[in-house]
Order: sequence, then C-alpha cells, then structure tokens
Amino acid sequence: MSLEIVILAAGKGTRMKSSQPKVLHKLAGKSLLQWAIEAALQVGAEKIHVVVGHGADQVKQAIDIPQVNWVEQREQNGTGHAVAQALPHISKDATVAVLYGDVPLISAATLQDLLNKVSDQSLALLTASLDNPNGYGRIVRNNNGDVIRIVEQKDAGAEQLTINEVNTGILAASASSFNRWLPALKSDNAQGEYYLTDTIAMAVSEGYQIAVAQPTSELEIQGVNSRVQLQELERALQLRRAQQLMEAGVTLADAGRIDIRGTLSCASDVSIDVNCVFEGNVEIAENCKIGPNCVLVDCKIEEGVEVKANSMIEDSHLAANCIIGPFARLRPGTVLAEEVRIGNFVEVKKSTFAKGSKANHLSYIGDSELGSGVNVGAGTITCNYDGVNKHQTKVGDNAFIGSNTALVAPVNVGVGATIGAGSTITGNIADGELAVARGKQRNITGWKRPTKKQP
Ligand code: UD1
Ligand code: MG
Repeated sequence: MSLEIVILAAGKGTRMKSSQPKVLHKLAGKSLLQWAIEAALQVGAEKIHVVVGHGADQVKQAIDIPQVNWVEQREQNGTGHAVAQALPHISKDATVAVLYGDVPLISAATLQDLLNKVSDQSLALLTASLDNPNGYGRIVRNNNGDVIRIVEQKDAGAEQLTINEVNTGILAASASSFNRWLPALKSDNAQGEYYLTDTIAMAVSEGYQIAVAQPTSELEIQGVNSRVQLQELERALQLRRAQQLMEAGVTLADAGRIDIRGTLSCASDVSIDVNCVFEGNVEIAENCKIGPNCVLVDCKIEEGVEVKANSMIEDSHLAANCIIGPFARLRPGTVLAEEVRIGNFVEVKKSTFAKGSKANHLSYIGDSELGSGVNVGAGTITCNYDGVNKHQTKVGDNAFIGSNTALVAPVNVGVGATIGAGSTITGNIADGELAVARGKQRNITGWKRPTKKQP
C-alpha cells in the first residue's frame, strides 16, 4: 500500500494577528508548514496533499516541493470537510495519514509508529495525556479501556472534560475507510462543523480497532495558534537542541541564548558564547571557540578556530587555527587556509587566503587570491568593481601590503613584493619589487599659517 499524507492548513490563524498565513510563520528558521511536509517526506509519503484556504496563494508560492499537491478548501467547514476535499486526489488503495500544518514538530519516528498500526481493520490515532487538556478533543474509552470516540471540548459534558487523554489531531487509516466515513459525517454539533474526529465512532461501529500511539515528547504535538505559543515552541525546541549539543561535548555559556535555524554539528570541546545564531548547515570541528553575538551561516570550520565577538560568517570554509574578529565579516566564497587571521572591521568576499596570511584591520578583500604569509595592512581595499564588471586581485606569497593601499583590479602583486602605505596600485608588481604610488612629500620651511582677519 502506498502512503499519502493530508496536511490541513486552511485555517485563518486569527490569533496570530498577521497578514501572513499562520503556517508560513517560522519556527527555527523554517515555516510551520515546511516542518510538517518534511516529516511527511521522512516517512516516505508518495504524495502530500496540503489543504489550503485562507491565504492559499501566498502559501502555494512559499513552498516548492514536487510531492505536494495543493487542494483548495474554499469554506472552512471543519477538519472532516477538509480531508474530504483531498480524498478525490488520493489513490483508492493508499494508506492515509492526516497531519496539521500548524503542528510542526511531529517526529518521523512517532509517525512511523502510528503508521505501523494501520490495517484494513484498524484506525491509528495519536493521543497524548496532558496535565492541562483544555481546548483539545477528549479521548473516550469504554470499560475495557478501548477507545470508542472523541468528544470535542465544546461538545463535552462536565465528566468528559475531566479526561486528560487528548486527540492530537493526527491519525491514519486506509483511503477506502475514509471514502466510506467522510461522506457520512454530519455537522450537528456545537460548532456546526464536519468533524474528522467523528470517524472514530464510525470505525468502532464497523468493528474496527482503534490503535493508539503516543508521541515521545509533548513538543511533537504542540500546535501554534498565537505568537506567544510560537515563541514558546521556539524556545523549547532551541533548549532541546542546546541540551543535545552539551550532551555531545559542547560548552554553552547559556543554553537559553543560542539559536539554531538549520543544522549545527559540533565536535567535542567546542565552546559557544551567548547570543550566537546558526543558520543553514554549519559544521564546527574540535576545540573551536565561538565568541558572543556571532552569526554563522552555511559554513565549515576546522579545529582550533577562534571566532571572536560580533563576527558574521556566511558560506565560508575556515581551516584549522584561524582567528577571526572581533567584528569581522566573511561573506560567501571566503576560503581561509590554516592560521589565517582576519581582524576587526575586515570584510572578505569570494576570496582565498593561503596559510598564515593576515588582514587585521579595516579592510575589504573581494574577488582575490592571496598566497601564504601575506600581510594586508590596515585600510587596504581591493577595488574589484569598475561599475560594470568584477575583477580579480592576486597577491603572491609573503607580499607586504602597506596600510591604506587601493588595489585596482585586475592586478597582480608578485611573491615577496612590497607596497608602500597609501599607494593606489593600478599595474602589476613583479616578484620582490617595491611599489610606491603616492604623491611625494614636500616640506616647506618658513611657511606661515593664515591668521584670523580683524573685523
Ligand atoms: C482539532 C480536533 C481536536 C484536537 C485538536 C488538536 C477536530 C474536530 N478537532 O480541534 O479533537 O484535539 O484539533 O489540536 O478535528 N482546518 C482546515 N479546514 C477546516 C478546519 C480546520 O484546514 O475546515 C485545519 C486548521 O487550519 C488547523 C487544523 O485543521 O491546522 C485543526 O483545526 P482547528 O480548528 O484548530 O481544530 P481544533 O478545534 O483545534
Ligand atoms: Mg486548533
């Protein structure tokens, strides 16, 4: 049997107070809906039917995943009605699971556990026992402990409200079962909606077993209805990630002040100071130190590197024992060999530095290839852009670039060459040469400063 997953995402999300559809709000850098879709892909869903309504166009535009089939639900007449809209698109012999677009952290393991419990004669239901079940549908069991139905909070009597086993909303059954049940749903309830949850009692009346699975963590089933809940879920997720890092041998100055919006993999004895943000795919090797307030995006950092406070590194590769910052900016395409030093207010873009080269202060190095042992003086600027095209700068091993040099690209500086401070270099310099390109100093003796005119 093939697996097809329906994700419900047509609701308005009124409590977000946002012009953006709720499911596009981000958790750990990824939209809520993207999280749910990825969970569906991880358990091998062949097709994912996302039911959209409010803000449908915006939602469709934001997500580009080939397995997704968009289904429009024009009026939001309930969760049962929503799944019914997807049903005509689902293969008759598929297994169908239902997820919510605003419940992002459902794990593949829990979903798989649930799916393993579906058969021709059983419906699998994900439930959870909560200290505070308020707002959820309650799971009603008979004297044998078998699930017999779900009662929504708004339809529940006083006794049912004391039940703390709740419906997470996530369930699975065969497409053929849903094809029988969904057209038979009625809306004679407190909300006047077609409840997906009423399929439980239908299944029971047909002699089906209701097989129950439970999540390993409450985070998995938490839905987002407001920005407060979104922030709470974000912090809970980040804390869990922080704990995993610490368990893997990473020192965190404060587990409550780190944000991983992607994947961060750290070897042991990495230490990370407060307020760092990691985005995309970041890999950090042994014994690296990341100072406070750093932002690292899609980069690979080898052992013993120190990134000092307030540095930003994007799409870059740093070899062992480099020292970066404070206040350094490494833009995409930066590749640094071992022991390179990039200091404060230095911006590097699409450039390589060979072993041990240094740019310690106030520079812009773009579209450049620097050899080893190069010293880039304070205030050196590669003038890589002529207003139309970008050009390359090449600097040979052990070259010394004096402070406040402008290197007008394309230009080559030879091995061991020296450039006098304040030079504007527009032509190539051969190996070992000294280039000085600045006005000659004149000293005028006996010169007098002007004096202030009397009125
Ligand atoms: C639903 C369940 C309840 C469960 C709770 C878990 C039903 C009847 N109730 O209640 O048992 O405890 O979720 O959070 O299923 N949606 C649509 N189209 C619709 C209605 C809803 O796409 O016509 C989507 C919403 O966008 C949302 C999800 O379905 O993502 C759940 O809808 P919501 O209205 O929040 O259901 P609850 O009343 O919370
Ligand atoms: Mg809800």
